[in-house]
Amino acid sequence: VLTQGHPLTGRVAFFFLRSLFMSLADRVLYPDFLSRTMTADEAAALIPAGAHVGMSGFTGAGYPKAVPGALARRIESLNAQGHGFKIGLWTGASTAPELDGALAQVDGIEMRLPYQSDPTVRRQINAGQMQYVDIHLSHVAQFVWFGFLGKLDVAVVEVAGVLPDGRLIPSSSVGNNKTWLDQADKVILEVNAWHNPALEGMHDIYYGTDVPPHRKPIPMTEPNQRIGEPYLRCDPNKVIAVVMTNQPDRNSVYAAPDDTSNRIAGHIIEFLQHEVKKGRLPKDLLPLQSGVGNIANAVLAGLNNGAFENLTAYTEVLQDGMLDMLRSGKLASASATALSLSPAAMQDFNDRIEFYKQRIVLRPQEISNHPELIRRMGLIAMNGMIEADIYGNVNSTHVMGSAIMNGIGGSGDFARNAYLSIFMTPSLAKNGSISCIVPMASHVDHTEHDVQILVTEQGLADLRGHSPSQRAEIIIDRCAHPDFRPALHDYVARAQRGAVGQHTPHLLGEALSWHQRYVETGNRRAPTGPASAA
Ligand code: COA
Repeated sequence: VLTQGHPLTGRVAFFFLRSLFMSLADRVLYPDFLSRTMTADEAAALIPAGAHVGMSGFTGAGYPKAVPGALARRIESLNAQGHGFKIGLWTGASTAPELDGALAQVDGIEMRLPYQSDPTVRRQINAGQMQYVDIHLSHVAQFVWFGFLGKLDVAVVEVAGVLPDGRLIPSSSVGNNKTWLDQADKVILEVNAWHNPALEGMHDIYYGTDVPPHRKPIPMTEPNQRIGEPYLRCDPNKVIAVVMTNQPDRNSVYAAPDDTSNRIAGHIIEFLQHEVKKGRLPKDLLPLQSGVGNIANAVLAGLNNGAFENLTAYTEVLQDGMLDMLRSGKLASASATALSLSPAAMQDFNDRIEFYKQRIVLRPQEISNHPELIRRMGLIAMNGMIEADIYGNVNSTHVMGSAIMNGIGGSGDFARNAYLSIFMTPSLAKNGSISCIVPMASHVDHTEHDVQILVTEQGLADLRGHSPSQRAEIIIDRCAHPDFRPALHDYVARAQRGAVGQHTPHLLGEALSWHQRYVETGNRRAPTGPASAA
């Protein structure tokens, strides 16, 4: 039954079948679920058209690997008969080609939330074919509890195993799974035998959240504190299908840090050292939050080679650089909602899982990104951006004001509430043709009020305590690429003469002309000297 429709035959199919049955016996210890075990195709057939489906998955970890593909095949075949079958897809954050990609390729997603990074999904959103609701990652669960997003019909959640009493061992991400399992009418479980069984015990699922006016303080003061239990609860009566899988997460390779990333990392580390000297940071800093990506990895590598000791991380995603720091002892502990590791780092994680289990806590994203905890613990938040303007407004999500890149993710949760909010980018993008420091950001995710530090490979702008006009000078001189500085200074000078007010001087007819020029010519560079550059 388990391999029904599976392309494997003969001896290979025998071993495949045997391993699935062994996994089933090892991983699903709740007897009642055995009779609900079925193929991914059979499980996908239980998802109705138009359903809101909450799937697990966070940055390529812990997403269901089989049911989404089966659902995509079903949608494709039904839509070929003129059905117009689509679902609303809710996740933790970005997932993988087997989930987002498969469903988008058959045009099966009516509405998607929250963060995504799949190229097909992105193309469809930007073509106006898919609705996308980009929500702060800490808000998603509570929006569902509040009823703001409508009813959740089905949850499809990957787990590493099922206990004899029906509780679930989470896999490599927790994301919104607690909420999906709690709020959905029906639950489909994917039990993935690829995950190391020793993951059991690494998670901390907090069940003390509530809706206003019944909320109580969350009892956490340290990043590595455990305040919940290691398992996900789920009413077994809601479980309509159990599907066995044995497939890896999307473990992507990170590029080795380049010169630009290393220079950005160097500026940040120098700044942190300066803050310690000034007495504004303790010598072991404050808990680190780091977005994913190559710049973030370079910062972590810099910290790993630097003088700071006994650091902690309270972050969203745990990437390779954090494992390196845990191994070297520079990082004492790390809290996150998901792993986001390269294949080599994943191998190392599995090889030393008992070591990492002492130091890593995986939590629901409503807790990893919780404003109350971020503010209380005083995080150092470091996130990437697309562009910043001369007054310190940051765009993390949109290209040329209109096209979504990924989404706000957790950057707003952290930046708005952190002790220090740092945004970083190379000073130039699109092969050096455009400046990431612009007169006016074409979209604002983080306002000037939430942005304290901007960093490019050119330098670091400390905006704290400075007025908009002072910030403009600092940002241009420290962060903008030298090729664009004259045009930016020229814009400010003319705005100071021509704007209606001198607090945040802008020439409204010109403020977005750099973007307009790029849209028209593929270049933001001035055709002739600085005066016409803006
Ligand atoms: N103007 C136009 N496009 C720009 C740009 C600019 N100033 N700067 C970057 N881009 C484009 C790049 O060209 C690239 O597009 P491409 O893949 O089509 O070439 C894309 O944006 C990503 O840029 P890249 O240099 O690869 O940066 P990155 O991988 O570090 O990502 C963000 C940067 C902002 C997209 C990414 O950090 C993000 O999605 N942030 C929001 C969520 C977040 O911060 N999460 C962490 C919270 S825990």
